[in-house]
Amino acid sequence: MMVSTTKSKGLPKASGAVKKAVGSYGKDKEALIQVLLDLQAVFGWLPPGVLREVSEQLDVPVVQVYRIASYYKAFSLQPRGRHIIKVCMGTACQVRRSPQLLNTISAVLKMKPCETSTDGRFTLETVNCLGCCAMGPVVAIDDVYHSNPSTADLQKVFESAE
Ligand code: FES
Repeated sequence: MMVSTTKSKGLPKASGAVKKAVGSYGKDKEALIQVLLDLQAVFGWLPPGVLREVSEQLDVPVVQVYRIASYYKAFSLQPRGRHIIKVCMGTACQVRRSPQLLNTISAVLKMKPCETSTDGRFTLETVNCLGCCAMGPVVAIDDVYHSNPSTADLQKVFESAE
């Protein structure tokens, strides 16, 4: 999901979505992480306005909300692409040339790791292990794992992604 503002078409406004998330946990401050997970799922990232609303509605200091939101990898403070590309840079994949795979993907999409394409289609990330080391080097495009894909394979997948 690509979101540029909290008022994007088809998405709930920040305050309504936050009210719903906070309410579903009985406004319990201890549920801060769960609330943020729910909102990450709704918006695809955690916009500043959402974090401020969470702080107000949960009565938790905004600094604490930001601390949690920036600590866990499950949260994103930047808009993300509709398709998430995760290149494994774990040891087993590195020895099987995952850095070269990352370079190939960067070149094909003309973007660096941690970037989101300007058209909002892709976010390129690196991860430490995808849990299938024997398949390395591995790249996960959304939930589909690709073992040592060729440049042509990658181009085909990227072209078919809307
Ligand atoms: S190191 Fe790449 S999947 Fe485990």
